[in-house]
Amino acid sequence: MNNNFYVTTPIYYVNDIPHIGHAYTTLACDIIARFKRLDGFNVFFLTGTDEHGQKVELAAKNKKVKPIEFVNEVSLNFKDLLKCMQFSNDDFIRTTDERHIESCQKLWNKLLENGHIYLGKYSGWYSVRDEAFFSESEIVDGKAPSGSPVEWVEEPSYFFNLKKWESKLIDFYEKNPNFICPASRRNEVVSFVKGGLLDLSVSRTSFSWGIKVPNDNNHIMYVWLDALTNYISAANYTDKVDGRAFLETWPADLHMVGKDIIRFHAVYWPAFLMAADLPLPKKIFAHGWWTNEGQKISKSLGNVIDPFDIVEKFGLDQVRYFLMREVPFGNDGDFSISQLINRVNSDLSNSFGNLFQRVVSMVVKNCNGKVPEKPNSFLDEDLKLINSIKNSLNEYRELIDLQRFDQVLKHIWLVIGNANKYVDIQAPWSLKKNDFKRMEVVLFTLLETLKQIAIILQPFIPSTSEYILNHLSIPNDFRQLKSINILISGNNDISVPSILFPRI
Ligand code: MSP
Repeated sequence: MNNNFYVTTPIYYVNDIPHIGHAYTTLACDIIARFKRLDGFNVFFLTGTDEHGQKVELAAKNKKVKPIEFVNEVSLNFKDLLKCMQFSNDDFIRTTDERHIESCQKLWNKLLENGHIYLGKYSGWYSVRDEAFFSESEIVDGKAPSGSPVEWVEEPSYFFNLKKWESKLIDFYEKNPNFICPASRRNEVVSFVKGGLLDLSVSRTSFSWGIKVPNDNNHIMYVWLDALTNYISAANYTDKVDGRAFLETWPADLHMVGKDIIRFHAVYWPAFLMAADLPLPKKIFAHGWWTNEGQKISKSLGNVIDPFDIVEKFGLDQVRYFLMREVPFGNDGDFSISQLINRVNSDLSNSFGNLFQRVVSMVVKNCNGKVPEKPNSFLDEDLKLINSIKNSLNEYRELIDLQRFDQVLKHIWLVIGNANKYVDIQAPWSLKKNDFKRMEVVLFTLLETLKQIAIILQPFIPSTSEYILNHLSIPNDFRQLKSINILISGNNDISVPSILFPRI
């Protein structure tokens, strides 16, 4: 079995300050990457920055610096976000990297050689903000469908023969029903392609901040052809990195994107790849958008949510949990501070934090700060709890492969709720007086359950899970999914715990 797993985020426009939307897309990929590693996969998790194009050229000009100086500086903001959110990416690609430039030129040459690129003249509408072309019929009140201003562009341009790929794309979508997810996005893409495709302008001559077209240096590549190619550049398409064969990494298992950029990924990208005789990614998942307290997030409204700021205010694991739990992944969601506080207080402090606190405190107090010895026998209610996480691993695996993060968390919190009820029903504080042995079984059961919960939560809330596993003295080798069955060792030292999630 091929044990590799390659997951990508979109590469982010550097001229923006990182905001909650960027953090969200990368967080989803981070959780998948961490989960897959935990499950024994050899993961390659890629993110990076999209640094070319007219927008960036203009932004640099406004700052009176060279584009390269500008991007060198602003791409650091995205690297800071990775640290702040504890993202576990394996690589960070910049479209100004030499490896990427070479890879774009190699792809261009291949498309040219295969006869899919021709020189023509472009005349039509272009939106710099969206970095996209629009036909006359798409223009609404003189603007792009997104509301961005458009300008009339007339210049010589190379075209990619996108029209020719129409039926091949439809055919591919039909044969691979899970290529585009969720289904609503898939339908949207299919009807767009069925509506007819036009050949795509893939070069520009009216500005210069981009990758030069190899056979004609007056042209630079269209920024989306450049940007999409990052996914193969990092997978060693040019064969420059020793020891990593391109086709061992490529095709990607998953391109995670926001719903706004599905067309580029699900139409243009597969067409480019087919035209270059390259395998297609296995899946493209388009997630929804966040609003802020019910309002569309936009720079002009000044309501952009700063991930650095909310992590500082509410804590990283709290924010990671909220973003993944609050909204079924794929749907749009509303970011509301009161809802974030509710979730932290009820799910994290009251349910989970409280369970950990009360169980560990009882062990410290009544068992000399050691895990009780493994019991000789359990009652049914003990086994029911002990088995609830480990017997659900296959369900979690499936849900992660479907990107149903909220469902995984919901299930885990059901177990947390059951564990709290078990404490109330078993009442170890009374057992202490009349059946000490049984109290030890109950506490052992609870510690084992907490261990499993912490193992499965590692991808979602890595710091808290690590704290718990350290606190329960679980060795590193026993923190994988495959070792979740190994019961916690009796005699492991346990000390007075800190509060996991202070109430807000
Ligand atoms: N540079 C292109 C992607 C090229 S990939 C080959 C781009 N960059 S972006 O920085 O504008 O956006 C990156 C991601 O952020 C998109 O997936 C987008 O959906 C996501 N988000 C931007 N605002 C968002 C919200 N308000 N909510 C959720 N995600 C949003 O597009």
